[in-house]
Amino acid sequence: MPARPPESGGLLTCATVPDYLHELFSLHGRRALVTGGSSGIGHAIAEAIGRAGAEIVLVARRPGELDQAVARLREHGVTASRISADLGDRDDVQRVCAAAGEIDILVNNAGNNIRKPMAELTVDDYERTLAVNLTAPYLLGQHFGPKMAARGWGRIINLGSQQSVSAFGDSGAYGAAKAAIAGLTRSQAEAWSADGVCVNTIIPGFVLTPLTEPAQAIPGRVEALAARHMVRRNGVPADFAGAAVFLAGDASAFVTGQMLFVDGGFFVH
Ligand SMILES: NC(=O)c1ccc[n+]([C@@H]2O[C@H](COP(=O)([O-])OP(=O)(O)OC[C@H]3O[C@@H](n4cnc5c(N)ncnc54)[C@H](OP(=O)(O)O)[C@@H]3O)[C@@H](O)[C@H]2O)c1
Repeated sequence: MPARPPESGGLLTCATVPDYLHELFSLHGRRALVTGGSSGIGHAIAEAIGRAGAEIVLVARRPGELDQAVARLREHGVTASRISADLGDRDDVQRVCAAAGEIDILVNNAGNNIRKPMAELTVDDYERTLAVNLTAPYLLGQHFGPKMAARGWGRIINLGSQQSVSAFGDSGAYGAAKAAIAGLTRSQAEAWSADGVCVNTIIPGFVLTPLTEPAQAIPGRVEALAARHMVRRNGVPADFAGAAVFLAGDASAFVTGQMLFVDGGFFVH
């Protein structure tokens, strides 16, 4: 490693680097609600922002998976709790709002993807998809966003998809919802950024999680998708840790309304 030039301000000590990183990225004192935080990308985000200091409230349907996820977070010293709820059900969404308490960081990550050829999608498929992937993030934003703005600080992170910006086969209703989530992000950012609430969308590549198991089961599909990423591999949940900590904290105070592609170069390839 080259020697640091003398005019650079002197030697960095072991104490100053962590202090600086703490100042930039610490989430101590913040409380975060992470939907879909019992699995995949959502769990990795919950672990990352929890280990960066935030208290975590997980939301998903299955109580057993939630309990295991809370236990994994506690093993890392994270203060964590959970609410079991179906975000496709508006009464359940209201129950989450009432039970969650004060939230500084909202991560709208829970999602479903009904994979059928466009012409075979039913009205029920469409409504179920929009309810979980778009209406729940909208309703949670409507509840927590104004409260964050009134306190003068907040972060909302919405999970988009390649389909926020381009077509991807056999999930047309999901694509419509994920395109809309990027628009919702911009509207929320416009509404609340002046009051310290930054709102951004994370756009994943193809990530190996339970959600993509149907695609992973198609012979050759995993390899073909890996080749489409510039980094020549598919994503894993841990790839989202750094981006989530950045977007959840003070370091992203001048970043709002944006789509952050955490996709190994998939979109631009
Ligand atoms: N994996 C990818 O390649 C990829 C690519 C682009 C975008 N994304 C997006 O990233 C997000 C996370 O996906 P993932 O791949 O990490 O999925 P995952 O591993 O399947 O996890 C989905 C999570 O959402 C919860 N969930 C699903 N439906 C729910 C409902 N109706 N109410 C409450 N919770 C619900 C699940 O728990 P329960 O089943 O117990 O409810 C689980 O915790 C989604 O928004 C997805 O669209 C993923």
